Amino acid sequence: MVRYDGLILERVLDLNNEGYTIEQIAEVCHIPVASVCMELRRVRDRQPFRLTRPPRSIKRWHPEDFTLESTTVWSFPKRGNWATHKGDYRGNWSPYIPRNIILRYTTEGETVLDCFVGSGTTLIETKLLRRKGIGIDINSQAICLAKERADFRFNDEFHPAIFEGEAQNLPQQIAHQSVDLICTHPPYTNIIQYSNDKTGDLSCCDIPSFLVEMNRVAQECLRVLKSKKHCVFMIGDTRHEKHMVPLGFMTLEVFLRNGFVLKEVIIKKQHNCQSTAFWYPKSIYHNFLLIGHEYIFVLRKP
Ligand SMILES: C[S@@+](CC[C@H](N)C(=O)[O-])C[C@H]1O[C@@H](n2cnc3c(N)ncnc32)[C@H](O)[C@@H]1O
Repeated sequence: MVRYDGLILERVLDLNNEGYTIEQIAEVCHIPVASVCMELRRVRDRQPFRLTRPPRSIKRWHPEDFTLESTTVWSFPKRGNWATHKGDYRGNWSPYIPRNIILRYTTEGETVLDCFVGSGTTLIETKLLRRKGIGIDINSQAICLAKERADFRFNDEFHPAIFEGEAQNLPQQIAHQSVDLICTHPPYTNIIQYSNDKTGDLSCCDIPSFLVEMNRVAQECLRVLKSKKHCVFMIGDTRHEKHMVPLGFMTLEVFLRNGFVLKEVIIKKQHNCQSTAFWYPKSIYHNFLLIGHEYIFVLRKP
């Protein structure tokens, strides 16, 4: 019977995150293939629950019904309202998304950056899941909201660092090759504008200038990410004069051109889209389909 301890388990996870096959991991760690599979399944399904009672204002610290996604199609009809999560920031993402990404691509204590942090959904999750969170947003209102939402008494040693700044020019506090995962959600050009034409705000850009700025974001992501680690972002497409503009793939291409390698393309189904009532009659009249999905691209730094 092979005995393996926490150190080997950590090595298994690291190698798995670096893209090694199960067989290669078994060989490197000198353990059976079946043990590698069993350990990965056990760890991926594990949630670092600490069963302290939440204050009255919070129903629960963790979702009751969570299982890690295992396919390339994700759908979360209920957004999720555990801990301090709220869906009131425009264009926010469901906490099930960063939870899945963080659990799959990091281990406890690792550093996760969201460089378009908005209301702080990712940082609530990093704190709950005992990762070191860093959040950046160009808009001061978002920064206030993210700070407020991450300010709860639970896993205090994992309180995130939150800075006002630009994803194209990350604050100097984030050192080269210091981040284990980038998990982020940029604006989809100017579909939702988060400021009144603030310089550098990507939500005020048209498509060509958005892609130029995202090129700088990709370079910054490459700079701060450790090698072999993941950069994951969610983005949607748009329409121009009845035709589809594949903004998601255009942005992906920018990241690939900078040297990232594509690991997964995930289709995320859209729910409760506020603009549907407005667009539905137009979609009938002009005979086009309403966009019902977004992409989550999982990239690796080679
Ligand atoms: C889609 S929202 C992120 C929402 C977030 N996932 C949440 O759940 O609240 C995009 C955010 O990017 C911010 N933003 C726009 N341009 C930026 C830039 N150049 N650098 C950093 N943040 C920027 C906007 O202020 C907005 O908060």
